[in-house]
Amino acid sequence: MLPHLPRFALAHLPTPLEPLPRLSHLLGVQLWVKRDDQTGLALGGNKTRKLEYLVAEALAQDADSLVTVGAVQSNHCRQTAAAAARAGLRCVLVLRGQPPAETTGNVLLDHLLNAELRWAGDRPRDEVFHEVVAAERAAGRRPYPIPLGGSTSTGAAAYADAVLELKDQLDAQGAAPSRIVFASSSAGTQAGLVVGAQLAGLTAEVLGISVDLPAAPLRARVAELATETAGRLGAPRTYLADEILVNADYLGGGYAVMGAPEREAIQLFARSEGLLVDPVYTGRAAAGLLDLIRRGAIQPGETVLFWHTGGTPALFAYAEQLIKG
Ligand SMILES: Cc1ncc(COP(=O)(O)O)c(C=O)c1O
Repeated sequence: MLPHLPRFALAHLPTPLEPLPRLSHLLGVQLWVKRDDQTGLALGGNKTRKLEYLVAEALAQDADSLVTVGAVQSNHCRQTAAAAARAGLRCVLVLRGQPPAETTGNVLLDHLLNAELRWAGDRPRDEVFHEVVAAERAAGRRPYPIPLGGSTSTGAAAYADAVLELKDQLDAQGAAPSRIVFASSSAGTQAGLVVGAQLAGLTAEVLGISVDLPAAPLRARVAELATETAGRLGAPRTYLADEILVNADYLGGGYAVMGAPEREAIQLFARSEGLLVDPVYTGRAAAGLLDLIRRGAIQPGETVLFWHTGGTPALFAYAEQLIKG
């Protein structure tokens, strides 16, 4: 644990580290999964770790509400709404576009968790986000704004801590992965993992499978955030974009468009291991992992850790497409 950043307890930690024997046998590699889909807050996911640090900072600043922003089926927004409920804070979510025809998946949970939803419509969601924060302040409230994905150095620090948690588990199980593979989007998870790997002395490659951005801007953003996070954690170091490993070959039809690779990965993980991955993030990362193994870019027999970052509530928003496929 990194003791010097305050935390507000939300997550069930440590999350399990489990072998995937049947999938490993099918694919000819040694696969492990780190179950951050089981962080325990309102169906879990990676944002719960970040929110432990973000909510602590909000409370230290005497905020009375959390305001954040995301896609329609944002896991980050759903977990923020749950964290606000746990901390006794109001929650305002700025979501992209229009309300969906069906209130399901994360949007349903946002409602149950009592978040106030503001739909950005045709406008850029960040513009609406800044406007909502300003309006909250003008109304005399004390909002704590959380940018997309909770990806500030405060949020990313949680994933540096998570690597220390993983290191203990790997040592206890005698496992030594050569790569850690996961879904990367707003850079916070990857930045934290990169810094944490360095602090824990873990030599595994930290390979983010991009979900929406081309490789160059994602690498640059991860490097910038990792540099900032390392400074916050008292281990200053400048990370360069060239050192950050991102694979953006699996963007398919674009963000949140589930294609054949994601569908196949969802089915294979479910049917071989009873493990659920989602259509937007972890299904895409799993599809990338499968392809890298099948193409031999990940060598037969290699030990690989798949860091499951959650997202499973979004499965319900893709029910028709999943069943027809
Ligand atoms: C399920 C899931 N996996 C991965 C990510 C990506 O994490 P990050 O935005 O920190 O890169 C997200 C972000 O929303 C997510 O919801």
